[in-house]
Amino acid sequence: MLLEVKDINVHYGKIQALHGVSLEVDQGEIVTLIGANGAGKTTTLRTISGIRSLSSGSISFDGRDISKVPGHKRVIAGIGQAPEGRGVFPGMTVHENLLMGAYARKGELDKDLAEVYELFPRLAERRTQLGGTMSGGEQQMVAIGRALMTKPKVLLLDEPSMGLAPMLVAQIFEIVKEINRRGTTVLLIEQNASQALQIAHRAYILETGRIVKSAPASELLNDPAVQAAYLGAGLEH
Ligand SMILES: Nc1ncnc2c1ncn2[C@@H]1O[C@H](COP(=O)(O)OP(=O)(O)O)[C@@H](O)[C@H]1O
Ligand SMILES: [Mg+2]
Repeated sequence: MLLEVKDINVHYGKIQALHGVSLEVDQGEIVTLIGANGAGKTTTLRTISGIRSLSSGSISFDGRDISKVPGHKRVIAGIGQAPEGRGVFPGMTVHENLLMGAYARKGELDKDLAEVYELFPRLAERRTQLGGTMSGGEQQMVAIGRALMTKPKVLLLDEPSMGLAPMLVAQIFEIVKEINRRGTTVLLIEQNASQALQIAHRAYILETGRIVKSAPASELLNDPAVQAAYLGAGLEH
């Protein structure tokens, strides 16, 4: 197993946000974690990337326990993320934003930059534009591209579809599929269950800090209870 989250409890002060969350992501998979606003999705992602600490439980990655490893070392170990809200540096160009993803590593970047620009031709056209002046969808591309520049073994994506028009959502999800096809494992956090389940291999459902269901994604797409709770408005086919 590439990433193993075991029975984690996470608190904000006295408030417990995660209650015994366990999930696994195997090499080569796209796994989606879906849940409503406030369910604890971002908290889960931030705990995996080391921004928040555990009260109990453990996280292992690539065969070692990383529960106490600081965040910047987790990036070097191969955990890359495009955070909620994208976190694009507004005063830096697209190109500089991408380079920020690679600040912690040495060696040739040209090949990786070329690959990001190939995945996102839009970014190649706009490499000298300031991040802050890009549209929401373009900023999402910058965030994903910057995460790819860390050379992740697993890419954590926090609601990449948030606030985007349906056509752009489809485009971003196609690119996520392509990134996975090229060999990067993906943990995709989404409220947009319908689209996420269509590209994922497996899925977990998070409700008020607890995993309430896990199954192959195709199974959840056809599950009446999941349809009623999560796919209502999103089911257009
Ligand atoms: N910085 C914080 N301080 C206190 N409570 C927080 C903080 N961030 C999140 N929470 C609470 O933790 C719970 C989970 O939030 P979050 O992980 O952001 O959910 P999601 O990403 O699924 O919308 C919510 O009840 C939220 O109010
Ligand atoms: Mg969130």
